[in-house]
Amino acid sequence: MEDLYILGIESSCDETAAAVVKNGREVLSNAIYSQIDMHTIYGGVVPELASRAHVEKVNYVIKQALENAGKRLEEIDAVAVTYGPGLVGALLVGVSAAKAIAFAANKPLVGVNHIEGHISANFIQDKNLEPPFLCLVVSGGHTHLVIVNDYGKYEIIGVTHDDAAGEAFDKIARAIDLGYPGGPKIDKFSKEGNPKAYDFPRAVVGKNGYDFSFSGLKSAVLNMLNMSKMKGIEVNRADVAASFQQAVVDVLVGHTMQAAEQYGMKKVAIAGGVASNTALRTAMEEECKKRGYEFYRPAPILCTDNAAMIASAGYYAYLRGVRSDFTLNADPGLDL
Ligand code: KG4
Ligand code: ZN
Repeated sequence: MEDLYILGIESSCDETAAAVVKNGREVLSNAIYSQIDMHTIYGGVVPELASRAHVEKVNYVIKQALENAGKRLEEIDAVAVTYGPGLVGALLVGVSAAKAIAFAANKPLVGVNHIEGHISANFIQDKNLEPPFLCLVVSGGHTHLVIVNDYGKYEIIGVTHDDAAGEAFDKIARAIDLGYPGGPKIDKFSKEGNPKAYDFPRAVVGKNGYDFSFSGLKSAVLNMLNMSKMKGIEVNRADVAASFQQAVVDVLVGHTMQAAEQYGMKKVAIAGGVASNTALRTAMEEECKKRGYEFYRPAPILCTDNAAMIASAGYYAYLRGVRSDFTLNADPGLDL
């Protein structure tokens, strides 16, 4: 089969990104402009500012992605873009840019689901990974346990009832004065703490036992911090971070292993920003090893938002015949 080059564009949250991927698996370029520094001052992503920054950077990252890949626009076979879920104003920037390019260069346009993109990061990382497999998608906005039956064929078996895992990391980081983004900071700070110092709750919710809830855990941590403050007891913040992280990791790993066993899945993957968490990666790897499962995890740069994963998902969608027309619009609540 002839080689296919997909230009991917991503702007759903606070990263403006563009990438060129060959045949869905080989990254020729992966340009990312992160807005993290700008949002850090406000302690979280400010949607209005995110949209404006995307407008400023989008053409620049696209140009950079093409240049780094050594490709001209004419040599690209299709333009893949995230159209949801995410922040509507942020998504619109990438969608508009992709439509303009597809129109001007007369290239097919493929709208991509951001969560499908996260899952597809595993195809880039491991050239031999083929469905079916089980994938835990954990990001700032999503916590999904998904059976990937085939390319583009997903069965969601567990979701969060309240906060996403990354959201919980960000909120607890704020409560212990670590700032934004919370995930990487808690990850690092936890290494100085004792994960057994506090026994925070591991919630069991939903009928099937695969759903998640992090609001009870969040409240337990916040209550403990408030009580300690009222009583004038000094808390070791690293112990709080490590114990909180352990509670999240236990639930994520526990549910994933239970699902793998019940559904007879021998391949287990993780994806999304929280999948770059070192404690989660280690625990998943150990548990998979014990049970004889193959474990897949993208490199950290492919876990957090990027456009290479969008180009990969776009490639498989393109092969399935998915084409978007020029009415493609941002869909902030798009389901997988
Ligand atoms: O996938 P992502 O870049 O954006 C969304 O689609 O949401 O994920 C961002 C989330 C943030 O909540 C961030 O705190 C979390 O991923 N995160 C981490 C780590 N790195 C990023 N959480 C835990 N440990 C990390 N090392
Ligand atoms: Zn994401």
